[in-house]
Amino acid sequence: MSKPLNIGMIGYGFMGRAHSNGYRKVSHFFDLEYRPVLKAVCARSADKVKPFADQWGYESIETDWRKLLERKDIDAVDICTPNNTHAEISLAAAAAGKMILCEKPLAMNAPEALKMTEAVEKAKVPNMVWYNYRRVPAVTLAKQLIDEGKLGKIFHYRANFLQDWTISADLPQGGAGLWRLDVAAAGSGVSGDLLAHCIDTALWLNGGIRDLNAMTETFIKERKHNLTGKVEKVGIDDACTFMCRFGNGSLGLFESTRYARGHKALYTFEINGEHASIKWDLHDLHRLQYFDHRDPGILRGWRSIHVSDGDHPYMGKWWVPGLQIGYEHSFVHQIADFLEGYAKGKPAQPDFRDAYRTQLVLDAILESARDRQWVTIPG
Ligand SMILES: NC(=O)c1ccc[n+]([C@@H]2O[C@H](COP(=O)([O-])OP(=O)(O)OC[C@H]3O[C@@H](n4cnc5c(N)ncnc54)[C@H](O)[C@@H]3O)[C@@H](O)[C@H]2O)c1
Repeated sequence: MSKPLNIGMIGYGFMGRAHSNGYRKVSHFFDLEYRPVLKAVCARSADKVKPFADQWGYESIETDWRKLLERKDIDAVDICTPNNTHAEISLAAAAAGKMILCEKPLAMNAPEALKMTEAVEKAKVPNMVWYNYRRVPAVTLAKQLIDEGKLGKIFHYRANFLQDWTISADLPQGGAGLWRLDVAAAGSGVSGDLLAHCIDTALWLNGGIRDLNAMTETFIKERKHNLTGKVEKVGIDDACTFMCRFGNGSLGLFESTRYARGHKALYTFEINGEHASIKWDLHDLHRLQYFDHRDPGILRGWRSIHVSDGDHPYMGKWWVPGLQIGYEHSFVHQIADFLEGYAKGKPAQPDFRDAYRTQLVLDAILESARDRQWVTIPG
């Protein structure tokens, strides 16, 4: 019989739903020593959070996250709120001795992320950041192939994350649903929101970034602010492109925007090595494209691997070979890895320190774009 691990989740928006779904499913598919129990969900309005709690099966609600942290029956706190709240909640949760699962980006900037990292390390509380794309089986397979040396020396890393939902100048900034456009709530624009994912995956697959040169643009300079009712300056980056050098000598090229008409969430990466290349695309997330130069010449070509076989990462836990899974399963996998890591005393990654390294790159991007200079990443 598995042991309960009581979850207290803060925020019930997009990620609140994705995580709740993960907690509900994980014990049905993975054999784990601990099973998450949906103990409490917290948001500021009881009227709004109560129906959410009922729909997802949370036992109770809170309207002040501080109250949630005081509760003895909460083991782990899951932070699914806008970016400007992550630090305060994490620092208090670490002081209260709670395990912390925090959404990305970890913080508003690297100094804030470092403070949070030092706090969880000092408190010795298990911690994890929701860079969930690592747990898409095709992406995990990419990591496996790279670690096995299939690609050989890596020369190039290319990643994009493209959207098109903020093109209208009439779209306001700030408040529910639009906090991403408000720099005071988000910290940055597409760099912290979208490129953060690409950077986390890149650091995981290809190692640290040595230095970078970035360019950002804010296409719509002023928008009405939902909280003040006034037209205010837009402080976020609408688009961001950067080139970089990795510690392993390879070159990186990254682009992110919310102004690529026709693209909703096109996260892609391609890695070119001495022997082989791999490509992945979020719109076709169960496939990994693989080209191996060592194949006999007449057979050489891109293979489209349908990552759905029992010996592919995580897939043995799901249906039968050939049947694919989707976006939401990356969260199930991340929870499974967190619970397994906790049971074995071998924490799952990415943890706060990993996410701090991503935050260093994010800060360097904004610094480089502002100063029009190459910036070296510390450490
Ligand atoms: N891992 C991913 O792929 C991914 C995807 C989307 C969002 N995110 C991250 O998740 C976080 C939340 O994003 P979202 O899209 O779910 O946002 P959202 O706007 O859908 O939901 C935010 C939730 O936070 C609540 N909230 C805000 N301030 C609060 C406070 N002080 N106390 C309690 N509740 C509060 C809101 O009521 C709402 O329920 C952000 O950090 C975002 O960057 C990650």
